[in-house]
Amino acid sequence: MCGIVGAVAQRNIVSVLIEGLRRLEYRGYDSCGVAVLGARGPSRARSVARVADLEGQVRDGHLEGVTGIAHTRWATHGAPVTDNAHPIFSRDALALVHNGIIENYETLREMLRGKGYEFVSQTDTEVIAHLIHSLYRGDLFAAVREAIAQLHGAYAIAVLHKDQPHTVVGARQGSPLVVGLGDGENFLASDALALAGSTERFIFLEEGDVCELSLDGVRIVDRQGEAAQREVRQVAAYGGAVELGPYRHFMQKEIFEQPRAITDTIPQADAFDASIFGEGAGQVFADIDSLLILACGTSYYSGLTAKYWLESLAKIPTQVEIASEYRYRESVPNPKSLVVVISQSGETADTLAALKHAQELGHKHTLAICNVGTSAMVRQTELSFLTHAGREIGVASTKAFTTQLVALFTLAATLAKLRGRLNDEQEAGYLKQLRHLPAALNSVLALEPQIIAWSEEFSRKEHALFLGRGLHYPIALEGALKLKEISYIHAEAYPAGELKHGPLALVTEAMPVVTVAPNDALLEKLKSNMQEVRARGGELYVFADTDTKIVNGEGLHVIRMPEHYGLLSPILHVVPLQLLAYHTACARGTDVDKPRNLAKSVTVE
Ligand code: F6R
Repeated sequence: MCGIVGAVAQRNIVSVLIEGLRRLEYRGYDSCGVAVLGARGPSRARSVARVADLEGQVRDGHLEGVTGIAHTRWATHGAPVTDNAHPIFSRDALALVHNGIIENYETLREMLRGKGYEFVSQTDTEVIAHLIHSLYRGDLFAAVREAIAQLHGAYAIAVLHKDQPHTVVGARQGSPLVVGLGDGENFLASDALALAGSTERFIFLEEGDVCELSLDGVRIVDRQGEAAQREVRQVAAYGGAVELGPYRHFMQKEIFEQPRAITDTIPQADAFDASIFGEGAGQVFADIDSLLILACGTSYYSGLTAKYWLESLAKIPTQVEIASEYRYRESVPNPKSLVVVISQSGETADTLAALKHAQELGHKHTLAICNVGTSAMVRQTELSFLTHAGREIGVASTKAFTTQLVALFTLAATLAKLRGRLNDEQEAGYLKQLRHLPAALNSVLALEPQIIAWSEEFSRKEHALFLGRGLHYPIALEGALKLKEISYIHAEAYPAGELKHGPLALVTEAMPVVTVAPNDALLEKLKSNMQEVRARGGELYVFADTDTKIVNGEGLHVIRMPEHYGLLSPILHVVPLQLLAYHTACARGTDVDKPRNLAKSVTVE
């Protein structure tokens, strides 16, 4: 994934930039580069190999400077070749690095071509560089502000100009950017981790912020152009891989990283194309007549959600099994079934064994959906889709789950298209919805204070019931799993229609009933199920889409979600459940990131 580092100092800053890139390497990247300002403008080194190679180039080329920017690129627009590697230049006067995707880059490119700008890369980034250059009138900060007003999409950028030798300007929207404060020097990065060792004082920029780094300070304005006072946070240098930043626990950090993780996971292609799943996927997808999904725990629940998508969108029969069950049961193999294994770690013993078992039974087509590209699961499957959640440290999986859902929705849409069940308009609509997801997630994350208020109540309970229907039943399961594994409250989930077949007997005022209430076709049925709970004195805690019109009442507590998000709604609805589990666990004082008896990677049976 892409990473940014920038610095303004009075010393040669190249080693700080390279070290920053090295710290971001764990995210994965396919090219990297660094640019510094000299008397005649910016000069750069770029590599399609590793940061170590870039470092060699910098040393051999005697690249030195006091103001600079650097980047690790994970190719989106354009192949991982040197011309597409950042920093991208505009007319040898301006250098820019960028994380994210500019959706209207084609329109802007045409407009800039009309003004005589020549494009030498396939990147969307090059339009930002030329746009800022075209607007530059002696004030880089002003030019950046004017330029970003014309950008649609997600970005974090760092930019420098030859006429402002001690200035780096940054801006963010949809991608993180953090300012590091030094003594007579200042820094910029996409992750505080990149600057460990250079500073421990950070400002986490907010959406829409633009900043200007100089030797003696940092100027920040918000989206409206008003001077913004942002909190300076002390983040202790952490020699390990990932920083906690302003968060209390990694789980909280990872919940809040979801917009970024999803941005990085959404396929960059303009179409649902089989090639997203690897070479030969088109042929495999044409060969199959069904899917067999195998996974454990949270990954299993993402598979259960996918079944709804695969059967409704692609009309392809889909079976989902817990890996530890499948591996020991006598099943009837279907060689025309695609075996899909889902795993955050790619090392889960049961899932690996189930995969092997399926292969031994004669299943020849296999696909891994996994967060670790180097894992055994990816190596042992024919096809793969890598989620880009980044390292997940909290034992309770959060961002890995939502990125798995993005991958699985992409699979369902791709198969639907291949099977002639998705027209161009629908395809464009789903792609648009996917790209809007990070913004929608941000609005759900903003519900945290309301969820904290509920968590106080939950922390005093010993049992909880979760209800969902249809596509959101697996989300209820996931919510219950999150609550039990980190707060140790006994939680169970049911499809709401099952209540009257048994679990209703458990409902009393001491048993909070969490209800996932999207505004979908099953809403009226769900409302009847809620009545059944109320009639028995049960207290309902409902996450309701705004357009359901469900409001607070006696024994009915409601948190309003955004408007219904269609088929992708589960990805939004799971987030408040993660937050509820997290804050309930905090209120109970458990070890959130390392819950008792559990491990992150389950490599034993
Ligand atoms: C729960 C959780 C686990 C994992 C399960 C499978 O929060 O994280 O249930 O989902 O152990 O792990 P992976 O996805 O690595 O195969």
